[in-house]
Amino acid sequence: MNIKSLNLIFYLLVIQFQRIISQIQYIQSDRAQILYVNAITKTIDQNNTETNTYYYAKPFSNIPKVILSVQSFNFGSMGTNQQFKLSLVSTDLNSVTIQVQSVEDSVILDLLIGILAVDYPCVNVFRNIVNVSKPTSVHTIEQNIQNYIAFFTSFQGEITSQIQFDFNYTQIDNHTINIQAANFQGVNSIDYNLIVFYCDVNIFKESSLYEFQTKSFQNVIKGRTKVNTQLQTPSTGFYGLISMNLYNFVRTFSIFFQPTNKTLPISNGQYDFSTEIVKQNNRTGQSVTYLNSQVFDLLKLVCPVNQYFYNKSCILPTQEGVYCQSNPNICYDCDANCKTCQNQANQCLSCQESQYLFESKCYDVQQDGTYCLNNVCYRCSQQCKECQNNSNFCTQCHDFEYLFNNSCYIQKPQQAYCKLRKDKVI
Ligand SMILES: *[C@@H]1O[C@H](CO)[C@@H](O)[C@H](O)[C@H]1NC(C)=O
Ligand SMILES: *[C@@H]1O[C@H](CO)[C@@H](O)[C@H](O)[C@H]1NC(C)=O
Ligand SMILES: *[C@@H]1O[C@H](CO)[C@@H](O)[C@H](O)[C@H]1NC(C)=O
Ligand SMILES: *[C@@H]1O[C@H](CO)[C@@H](O)[C@H](O)[C@H]1NC(C)=O
Ligand SMILES: *[C@@H]1O[C@H](CO)[C@@H](O)[C@H](O)[C@H]1NC(C)=O
Ligand SMILES: *[C@@H]1O[C@H](CO)[C@@H](O)[C@H](O)[C@H]1NC(C)=O
Ligand SMILES: *[C@@H]1O[C@H](CO)[C@@H](O)[C@H](O)[C@H]1NC(C)=O
Ligand SMILES: *[C@@H]1O[C@H](CO)[C@@H](O)[C@H](O)[C@H]1NC(C)=O
Ligand SMILES: *[C@@H]1O[C@H](CO)[C@@H](O)[C@H](O)[C@H]1NC(C)=O
Repeated sequence: MNIKSLNLIFYLLVIQFQRIISQIQYIQSDRAQILYVNAITKTIDQNNTETNTYYYAKPFSNIPKVILSVQSFNFGSMGTNQQFKLSLVSTDLNSVTIQVQSVEDSVILDLLIGILAVDYPCVNVFRNIVNVSKPTSVHTIEQNIQNYIAFFTSFQGEITSQIQFDFNYTQIDNHTINIQAANFQGVNSIDYNLIVFYCDVNIFKESSLYEFQTKSFQNVIKGRTKVNTQLQTPSTGFYGLISMNLYNFVRTFSIFFQPTNKTLPISNGQYDFSTEIVKQNNRTGQSVTYLNSQVFDLLKLVCPVNQYFYNKSCILPTQEGVYCQSNPNICYDCDANCKTCQNQANQCLSCQESQYLFESKCYDVQQDGTYCLNNVCYRCSQQCKECQNNSNFCTQCHDFEYLFNNSCYIQKPQQAYCKLRKDKVI
């Protein structure tokens, strides 16, 4: 076999190897939990409230930050105001407590909501109101914004044949998000929750393992409308409504999941819209002009066992120029001047050719007071100023000392005569 064919085999092995180590998987973030619940268990009458506590599937290790979304609502009777207030009362490691309030004379039969609880070390939540006279609000954070999403959580409307509002948010710069509401019809004010992620590797070392996707959907509802979420991992999204235009005295509608099971989160990347009126009277497309929704997917990227996450792919921890930690398995770049490193970016294990490695750092020139074997350097023993090949083999002494037979002496050795202090003994 000649060199060429050996090279080819090696090349094919490398290709195969790279193929094997690049299977990255997306799973739901282990720092986020989603609950979908009907926030009311009995009809809430005029001016009443209902407060419920819901338990997370597994306890958090830190108190999570929580935002809410609205999936659907059902107002009881015509001729009453269409409004409610949904609010977070409290959360701890195990549970979250939510209150629904009927404002003035509204009667609420159903209010399906989403609860997103996240335990990232670099998250802010804002809760605020936009209204007809103040439709924009501005939120700033000190750190660079990495990701964010806002959902409305309630609205306060009137006795009306039309309920409409558009809710929108935009990032202005690295530190600022604007919330805007527009096209108010029969609605005076909108409550919302905004969650902002400012994770970067300086704040949260594992941040590269986590990704976010925001998708919004604009739907003109004609009967049943299927929304394809096209998520990376279809069952992990946190979804809710964002804008709507309902008229013709629609009192009730729902988002039904596909398959139609309200007790399960999106299970196959799709969900359905349909309205109660459509269901009951087969009147299609009359009542809901549009109903916009959005999904926020919080993902964790994981590699197969024994592989390590690096630069959005999976590698073996032996790759040059990175150092790796386990649990979670993740590698980081070494400092540019190390060839290889361990534990920390600046803990060099080896240097580029022609450089000298000394105490885990790389140098272009040999450092004073060191000796080097194959460009790996060690400190000379205290007695020597300079040494060679061995820490005790002095080639130069500290000032005012005597060098004799490659050792340094404070007193002139008896058997020697000396040219000069600190110079070589002859
Ligand atoms: C509900 O509150 C409104 C305004 O505070 C008041 O006008 C109304 O009478 C109350 N309704 C009931 C049933 O208490
Ligand atoms: C709108 O919001 C502003 C600030 O939150 C408040 O001062 C004002 O009274 C509200 N106006 C209406 C009509 O609700
Ligand atoms: C949100 O606002 C931006 C900027 O004003 C606009 O470009 C975008 O179309 C709006 N999106 C929606 C869904 O209204
Ligand atoms: C915004 O943040 C990115 C990094 O997240 C940075 O590269 C960029 O320079 C920042 N822009 C400004 C104007 O600060
Ligand atoms: C919906 O899912 C729940 C939980 O898996 C199950 O108990 C229930 O029977 C399902 N309902 C329907 C209508 O399939
Ligand atoms: C509604 O449509 C379904 C199927 O299209 C039909 O079976 C049902 O009878 C209709 N109901 C009414 C009230 O028209
Ligand atoms: C990370 O991956 C991208 C795309 O595969 C590549 O272009 C880039 O050079 C890689 N960066 C490092 C530091 O390996
Ligand atoms: C140090 O070791 C090298 C290589 O082994 C040798 O050539 C050199 O003479 C040694 N230096 C001293 C001072 O012994
Ligand atoms: C010089 O040092 C070597 C090694 O320590 C030793 O064997 C030798 O006897 C010493 N020579 C003199 C003259 O002291």
